[in-house]
Amino acid sequence: RTARFTLDPAFTVGEVNPRLFGSFVEHLGRCVYDGIYEPGHPSADEDGLRTDVLDLVRELGVTAIRYPGGNFVSGYRWEDSVGPAGERPRRLDLAWRSTETNRFGLSEFIGFLRKIGPHAEPMLAVNLGTRGVQEAIRLQEYANHPGGTELSDRRIAHGDKDPFGISLWCLGNEMDGPWQTGHKTAEEYGRLAAETARAMRQIDPSVELVACGSSSRAMPTFAAWEATVLAETYDLVDHISLHAYYEETDGDRDSFLASAVDMESFIESVVATCDHVGARLKSDKRISLSFDEWNVWYQARFQQEAEENPLDWPEAPRLLEDNYSVTDAVVFGSLLIALLRHADRVTVACLAQLVNVIAPIMTEPGGPAWRQTTFFPFAQAARYGRGQVLDVRVDSPTYGTAKYGETDLLHATAVRDPETGAVTVFAVNRGQDAALPLEAALAGLGLDRVAEHLVVADADPEARNTLAEPERVVPHAAEGTELAGGTLKAVLEPLSWNMIRLV
Ligand code: AHR
Repeated sequence: RTARFTLDPAFTVGEVNPRLFGSFVEHLGRCVYDGIYEPGHPSADEDGLRTDVLDLVRELGVTAIRYPGGNFVSGYRWEDSVGPAGERPRRLDLAWRSTETNRFGLSEFIGFLRKIGPHAEPMLAVNLGTRGVQEAIRLQEYANHPGGTELSDRRIAHGDKDPFGISLWCLGNEMDGPWQTGHKTAEEYGRLAAETARAMRQIDPSVELVACGSSSRAMPTFAAWEATVLAETYDLVDHISLHAYYEETDGDRDSFLASAVDMESFIESVVATCDHVGARLKSDKRISLSFDEWNVWYQARFQQEAEENPLDWPEAPRLLEDNYSVTDAVVFGSLLIALLRHADRVTVACLAQLVNVIAPIMTEPGGPAWRQTTFFPFAQAARYGRGQVLDVRVDSPTYGTAKYGETDLLHATAVRDPETGAVTVFAVNRGQDAALPLEAALAGLGLDRVAEHLVVADADPEARNTLAEPERVVPHAAEGTELAGGTLKAVLEPLSWNMIRLV
């Protein structure tokens, strides 16, 4: 059976915020060290940044980059990460049982962003695990105040005359999680987040603040946590965070392929919770969603390894270095589609993470950098998923899944560039065995032709890019896709990610 939908420029979901294509750099494993930063690498620039990685980061098209954690931030002393590099202290990083040299710090991170380009923006997390209001506002003053105070002059003395201009801040990380250093109850965190937000707004009323939501939808306190935290912070914050990671479990690939069903319903539950609190407070304000950690992550594998081999405080160990298959890329693409389909409320999203650690970009010390399979859906969506998201309601054949019941084989969204009228369709065929014919009625859009139809799929759904074979999987062009008489006709390969550009 054919999957169908109709597009109409009058029916839109909302405008895509460029921050939807954010990412995440944590001091974890080799994300920073031997990832973005490797002095001595043949491609390293004068600041020790790998230019081969910088090129790939630009090609990926990431916007807001969250830093420095993650779990790492809950033990972070920002003062350790600034000033002359040779004088910075080495510290135990309790989150990842590693040694943090602080050789790369806040100033180096801002330098990295500036080299990516003007669309890259910092999203800085403050430590609300082991620290509090005072350290957060001191960091804000160091980073953003132009000069003339001890802290801002300290930044200038450290070589950064221009303020960093950080407008987007996370109030801690995953504070609901018992694994978090300084973990808190919702009441404790809500009060601390509110007081920190109030003080940060005293410095600059225009800062944008993200309160911690639940670290996953599976947390026993999910939804109650959000309601309690927002009751304290509703007028003081702009966003609430969501985190979700997906993996195949017990060989149940059908359910894994439907992971975005969970992600969409997670988003809708958080929207409902935010709006419920808003209604109770009789507020017209709408809290937006910051999905600031999302990805495929083989977390069970990581947990088992960590139990069997507890780390003995190494520097930049190989951690969470998942190697992604074509199947993973299809699920990953479907998660991107889920985010776009909720662009009216999800205004920030960060692919966790950027390099080496559950990442689209991998590196070898002294050696090459390469693209994982997940690189391609992200780069295509970041480039062409700009403009108005159209309301796509699919009529699709379904398949049975153990976790989510009957699920559409087709998962899709479409984004219209309001200036050119061009429309890009992003679509996934979740079916493992059969191609899926697609027909979309587009008569009202005034489009002429298919500019390109790119596909990530492979006869071997386990195919991956590796150091030995870095270009084993690359997107290929589909054949036979046509736009005639206002109808788009395409055939989506089994287990495939698709980008169809219509102009
Ligand atoms: O992204 C890896 C880790 O996952 C982060 O440090 C933490 O916030 C989450 O649990």
